[in-house]
Amino acid sequence: MEQPKREIILSGIRPTGNLHLGNFYGALRKFVQIQDAHDCNFFVADLHALTTATDPEALHANVKNVLAEYLAAGIDPEKATIFVQSDIPEISEMYLLLNMHVGIGELMRTAAFKDKARKCLGLSGECDDSDEAFEHQIIGGDTNKRVCAGLLTYPTLMAVDILIQKATKVPVGKDQLQHLELTRRFARRFNSFYHVDLFPEPTDFDFGGAPVKVPGLNGSGKMGKSEGNCIYLIDDPKVIRKKVMRATTDEGPKEPNSPMSEPVANLFTLLELTSTPDVVKHFRDAYADCSIRYGDLKKQLAEDIVAVTTPIRDRITDILANEEYLRKVVRDGAERARARAADTLAEMRQIMGIRPL
Ligand code: ADP
Ligand code: TRP
Repeated sequence: MEQPKREIILSGIRPTGNLHLGNFYGALRKFVQIQDAHDCNFFVADLHALTTATDPEALHANVKNVLAEYLAAGIDPEKATIFVQSDIPEISEMYLLLNMHVGIGELMRTAAFKDKARKCLGLSGECDDSDEAFEHQIIGGDTNKRVCAGLLTYPTLMAVDILIQKATKVPVGKDQLQHLELTRRFARRFNSFYHVDLFPEPTDFDFGGAPVKVPGLNGSGKMGKSEGNCIYLIDDPKVIRKKVMRATTDEGPKEPNSPMSEPVANLFTLLELTSTPDVVKHFRDAYADCSIRYGDLKKQLAEDIVAVTTPIRDRITDILANEEYLRKVVRDGAERARARAADTLAEMRQIMGIRPL
């Protein structure tokens, strides 16, 4: 009997540092959950990292780290295709071709571009300028800082990652939804311009339930590399204990059943992710009747986080020590990813009139 076609899923992480608990609960763990039932493709977006990272040694080390972290979190190369973006040269060629159908205006209006461009130029604050003022800042002034063209065309490259594999479901965080919307727009535009049906329109992968948002330890916002509030999967237990013990709290509840401040609610969110329901209940009750001691809560939280990360950390260390294994994983992954990429690129070249004489 013919097997039903499995949905093609694709997601990538930029190798700009080690992965943290936010990446683990928000991405890696979910990738692991879906790898049996779908045609999963997980890659390391090293070309995307080049739009902001400029240290070659750090980039190379981070590619290895993210690969080891994927594997240590349980992504299985027998089930999912794991690859490095730059191992697929077809991506770079398609990036050139697709760029011919992308407008610089729509790229300049992308929120992530505005944010990152402002950071490159050293401009502070949120970007609430008019498009005109923003354009003026980008095009130039007396500064020798510049916004690279690669940053502008970041969404084209991301669309290529997705469309070259003809992926239909793309698990991403909220901040990437605009890029996914652009991907659909580019797919639709290409199909209708050439009267073809080459690219499916990808959507966000719905894991069901509320999306996980892992908070940071500094009171507000989410855990993120650039926020400096992360617990890394590779962190030593001593480091984890120190980070947790320093987490922001408040003076404690003064009256029974008082509402929680954000920093304390964040600690409970972390506890819910890493601990057992009875432990969570114990501390919730203690908060409700004002007997809670934040020091005890933090000690418990630190141990629960250490229990989650220690086996992962051990696996990361083992995998990083086994270069031969890492090389084999990415070689096999690239072979599979390239096969599909080459087919799509060949179709695209043909459609666009880039044909052998
Ligand atoms: P960072 O914000 O640290 O740079 P990325 O933007 O590279 O992390 O995120 C990679 C993946 O991890 C994305 O799928 C993103 O949604 C997820 N992720 C990152 N931080 C968190 C968080 N604090 N909570 C939940 N998911 C997160
Ligand atoms: N832009 C994504 C991020 O910063 C990473 C990424 C690159 C990606 N290409 C992708 C995610 C393709 C999903 C699909 O998180």
